[in-house]
Amino acid sequence: MKEPVRVTEVGLRDGLQNQPHPVSTAGKLELAGALIRAGVSHLEAVSFVHPKAVPQMADAAEVTAGLPFFGGGARGIDYMALVPNLKGYERAKAAGYQKVAVVLATTDTFNLRNLRMTRDQAEATCREVMAQARADGIYVRAYLSGACACPYDGLTDVSVVHELSERLLTAGANEVAISDTIGAGNPKQIRDILGPLVRAHGATPFNLHLHDTRGMALAMTWAGLEAGVRHFDASIGGLGGCPFAPGASGNVATEDLVYLLHGAGFDTGIDLDHLYDAVAVAESITQQSLGGNYTKWRRSQERRHWEQANTCAPEDGRAG
Ligand code: COA
Ligand code: ZN
Repeated sequence: MKEPVRVTEVGLRDGLQNQPHPVSTAGKLELAGALIRAGVSHLEAVSFVHPKAVPQMADAAEVTAGLPFFGGGARGIDYMALVPNLKGYERAKAAGYQKVAVVLATTDTFNLRNLRMTRDQAEATCREVMAQARADGIYVRAYLSGACACPYDGLTDVSVVHELSERLLTAGANEVAISDTIGAGNPKQIRDILGPLVRAHGATPFNLHLHDTRGMALAMTWAGLEAGVRHFDASIGGLGGCPFAPGASGNVATEDLVYLLHGAGFDTGIDLDHLYDAVAVAESITQQSLGGNYTKWRRSQERRHWEQANTCAPEDGRAG
């Protein structure tokens, strides 16, 4: 039997939060449907943040109300919502989420720009949400943003990532998502970050959240796999960017990640052909062209086949 890898699709939150054109609630639900048809079973659907901070997420409750199989049902889709504070947590709980994600960045500057809190304040907020979630029996992921580099302060020291991850786990996080928010990292950093953490805690409580800004995400994924990690985030077509991290582009494209994982013999439960179709849905609702390298390759194949089918064979022996 193939070893399973959990792929969490974050396009609906991380991918859409920075889009210049407003995406309708119906459009978001169309994308969710296309992803679920492809076999995606873990999705970060929305964030309950201040609507002025991220206008694309203002309809988080409406989106949630329309999500397929939300709250159970035959397919058992695992939905998650990002919450920046207790108010966001209460909104997520009221909407019915059983899994939330809190956010801590590695530097004061990044926390201040993102959440209007210093790092200590953001950590205290995470603790507050985690304590409440534990009392409510709700699962908590803790994002550790800027794990490889901060968009404002540069390279992140690996010891900072170790220390904050330890503190988040001790405070009750069910998992820590090591996040290269601006896609500035490399495989060695991933190895250095994960080595001691996996030795101390096993790989289960870790998830890699990689952006592909400099084309390193798949190489870093491989370093994560070698360290034992089996939980990864991705965004359909590479959709995304962070409004508070200048220069960040999208997450690693889900289709590229799935292609790598299937090639390496892992089971994701996702069908690559249907995932490829979902890229077109993401393009249509965001009015832009998207696609990881896998999509570019599939499209070039389709063009070639179309050209071959539509080229007339030259007529033998006749001039003109
Ligand atoms: N959802 C909706 N409204 C919220 C909220 C939330 N999660 N948290 C606070 N508010 C409201 C408060 O009720 C208050 O409203 P009022 O003025 O009507 O009383 C107002 O916002 C100010 O509250 P305050 O606690 O001072 O928040 P702030 O203005 O310092 O903003 C955040 C802090 C965290 C809410 C805001 O910076 C934010 O939403 N950031 C999200 C950034 C993000 O999504 N980044 C990408 C993902 S990591
Ligand atoms: Zn991200």
